[in-house]
Amino acid sequence: MLKAYADHWGLVTGASSGIGAEFARQLAARGMHLVLVARREDRLRALAQELQVAHGTRCEIIPADLSKPHAGQELLAEVAARGIEVELLVNNAGFGMVSSVEETDIGRALELIQVNIAVLTELTLLAAKGMVGRGHGGIINIGSVVSFQPVGYMGVYSASKAYVLHFSEALWAELRAQGVTVTTLCPGTTRTEFFDRSGVPGWAEQNRSEDVKSVVRTGLKALDARRQYVVSGWINYFLSLAVRLATRATVVKGTMSVFRPRVKPQG
Ligand SMILES: NC(=O)c1ccc[n+]([C@@H]2O[C@H](COP(=O)([O-])OP(=O)(O)OC[C@H]3O[C@@H](n4cnc5c(N)ncnc54)[C@H](OP(=O)(O)O)[C@@H]3O)[C@@H](O)[C@H]2O)c1
Repeated sequence: MLKAYADHWGLVTGASSGIGAEFARQLAARGMHLVLVARREDRLRALAQELQVAHGTRCEIIPADLSKPHAGQELLAEVAARGIEVELLVNNAGFGMVSSVEETDIGRALELIQVNIAVLTELTLLAAKGMVGRGHGGIINIGSVVSFQPVGYMGVYSASKAYVLHFSEALWAELRAQGVTVTTLCPGTTRTEFFDRSGVPGWAEQNRSEDVKSVVRTGLKALDARRQYVVSGWINYFLSLAVRLATRATVVKGTMSVFRPRVKPQG
């Protein structure tokens, strides 16, 4: 559980665009000082200036490539060296990949596992140790509506988000009596740069999609209520439950039609 937002520090990974930038905006509006992390330093700098002017909160930027081994440890060492104690960690940095097996860049797939799984795990565990010691703190990990089922042509990404949900829910149960809340936010399709960078440009605009503002509001409300997870949007929530009613084979075969038209023809 957070001690408070105002005058405490939040750390947001992937703050240079999309959901992460919106987390930074809504947390600064609650009076939180922020550490903003991503690779695109110019974007972080511009956001930090915007938030300082709009809300008078402090903003530190740490440009970092989270696909590098031990990036999480190095990041938190830098945060500690700046004398900052993280009250809220938002593990938001991540990316997707839509491709057939033939098209898959294996190096990129391993990079995805590093960013979406390994660094998220490293940051969560390191930050949680400090929070348990202090008896308060919160962590929001970004899962997805695909955390609930495998998706054809998006296997590595959907599996990475299943990991995020399972790992984070286990910690939620372990740490809630020690004053620390771990909440997984599972958005559906959201209008950000995500799909343009995942190999299916224009996807969010061409399909039912949510705005980052409502996704982030949903995540913060769930954290405040100390919920273990939340799915953003009623239709997405319904879909996350509906997959339990069919066999796993039916569900995964059903997902094949989603991206098949967008990958190179097979065989
Ligand atoms: N948009 C959706 O439909 C959707 C749905 C469900 C879940 N999500 C999840 O939501 C989270 C945020 O995605 P988004 O939709 O906001 O997409 P986005 O606009 O593409 O933002 C992704 C963020 O992650 C950062 N990032 C990616 N690789 C990184 C690396 N190697 N090192 C450091 N930072 C890195 C990017 O920063 P730099 O490129 O500047 O490093 C960027 O700030 C992701 O975890 C994504 O899986 C998105």
